[in-house]
Amino acid sequence: MMKEVLEVLSPKPGDVVVDGTVGLGGHAARMCDMIAPEGTLLAFDRDPEMLAEAELRLASKQTVKRIYFNQDFRTAAHELAARSLYANGILLDLGYNSAQVDDPTRAFSFKHDVPLDMRFNPALGEPATAKVNRMSQVQLETAIFELADEKWAGPISRQIVERRKTQPLRTTNDLVECVLAAIPPRAREKRIHPATRTFMAIRILTNDELEGLDDALFALAGRLADGGTLVVLSFHSGEDRIVKQAFRQLADNGFTDLTRKPLVPGSSEISRNSRSRSTKLRAIRKPVSAGNGIPACLGSAS
Ligand SMILES: C[S@@+](CC[C@H](N)C(=O)[O-])C[C@H]1O[C@@H](n2cnc3c(N)ncnc32)[C@H](O)[C@@H]1O
Repeated sequence: MMKEVLEVLSPKPGDVVVDGTVGLGGHAARMCDMIAPEGTLLAFDRDPEMLAEAELRLASKQTVKRIYFNQDFRTAAHELAARSLYANGILLDLGYNSAQVDDPTRAFSFKHDVPLDMRFNPALGEPATAKVNRMSQVQLETAIFELADEKWAGPISRQIVERRKTQPLRTTNDLVECVLAAIPPRAREKRIHPATRTFMAIRILTNDELEGLDDALFALAGRLADGGTLVVLSFHSGEDRIVKQAFRQLADNGFTDLTRKPLVPGSSEISRNSRSRSTKLRAIRKPVSAGNGIPACLGSAS
């Protein structure tokens, strides 16, 4: 949803923008063109490989000051504050990108049989195997159901727990086999692979993707310049629910909710990129008269 993101953010020459999930730098490259000359881009990605790709791609944007952080965007409000900056535009394009899915070493997809790691930053935290081999059946069931709306979460979590009694899960195939053993062939959806939802849930769990997302949104809203815009692209209902509720609270506190109904991709974008079918774009704008900072009731805007 490149066009929609740029239209809503509408960056201007000299602006300060934050790309909290820079990925391969597609959105950031376009934003750099629009904030040049003398704009500033703060680019974040948890994945060091993605950040390196983005740096390469943005190397030619010399008239823009570019600052890179191999960090979670949950630190972005703090980094803005440390530089006494307020952002005119902030973008969070949540989730993972196709380069990560297609990388056979990363285990984001079940297409390759590799160690089940799934971390955005393989140097931090623990791999997915640690969670699937340690969590209780109830915890796994709740996570797979709540994070991915998987209605077979009960049988899948039981299969995982049964299987690890004889041997811990180690690879992507081990997890796929648990899913296939849990969902009878006649009940499988034709549109997506039966393991799609379970992989999504375990990835979200491994990277604590929803943990503190609402606090991060409030903190980022607090670092918007007057008239500045925060845009979030989410890919599943759990994420979108958090964004929607946070934006509703911000709207109750003087911000303008630009998307009471989220923007969604058109049919041509979905046919070009089937992953985009569940994308929702939400945006909030700080009014010109709001002053800096956000009301204390919305949490700390560091
Ligand atoms: C959908 S992609 C972004 C694509 C990007 N907009 C582009 O144009 O190439 C999401 C990126 O966000 C990163 N990411 C996911 N969660 C993150 C977080 N909490 N903090 C920072 N980066 C994150 C992923 O590593 C991935 O590279």
